[in-house]
Amino acid sequence: MTLAGKKALVTAGGTREAIDAVRFIGNKSSGKQGYAIAEEAFERGADVTLVATVVREMSAGIDRLLVESAAEMREAVVGCAGEADIVIMAAAVADFRPSSVRPVKYKKSEGVPTLTLEPTADILAELGQAKSASQVLVGFAAESDNLEANACRKLAEKNADIIVANNIIAAGAGFDSDTNEVMIFSWSELASDLAGRTVDQTAAETINQLHVPSVSKREVASVLLDVVESHMARLR
Ligand code: CTP
Repeated sequence: MTLAGKKALVTAGGTREAIDAVRFIGNKSSGKQGYAIAEEAFERGADVTLVATVVREMSAGIDRLLVESAAEMREAVVGCAGEADIVIMAAAVADFRPSSVRPVKYKKSEGVPTLTLEPTADILAELGQAKSASQVLVGFAAESDNLEANACRKLAEKNADIIVANNIIAAGAGFDSDTNEVMIFSWSELASDLAGRTVDQTAAETINQLHVPSVSKREVASVLLDVVESHMARLR
């Protein structure tokens, strides 16, 4: 029970951004990786809150909040994050949403609608700005190219402690697959030791990379929580 007494907040699934009364903009996320992380943290003794957009099987002791849109996810996550020792943003959060939602259905007879989009809030970046020195913040990076460079940039720009990056177009990995192949990027020094350095300096010198070959999403969760626990041990 290596996480006994710790509070973990995990997100899972893809958000849905309403277009009209029946349609939405979604993504391919199944929520499997986020649920696997929540289960693994619960099995290690953590008090787990899961903010999810999809319903999947889970242990009864996990506290689940169901949300739909990026805005609802933000509200739920920001409301719980202050108390959490570990925050893991595994959800695929929409970056854009329709700037207005039609309360009724667009009718085909009206012709093809033109959608205007607006950005959503970046929840992980917001958590990175607000986080305390003792909180471990984990983000995901869904990449189709330049995985290492993009993951390192997200680690620095979003002020996360760990980024789990996956190649979403590789076989046996990514959305809806039961397995995943990831790279886990984490700072090799504590944030307090990095103060004042530029992103280029920190990225070149102080980011550890761990390759996790194609294994079950539960095994990915286990390796990730080992990395989280070793980060927590350094914070003590
Ligand atoms: N994320 C978030 N809020 C958003 C978008 C993303 O909190 N509005 C989080 C995701 O949960 C994930 C991380 O940010 O942990 C990276 O998400 P990703 O989609 O890979 O990256 P983006 O920042 O959206 O950048 P890009 O689309 O350029 O890859």
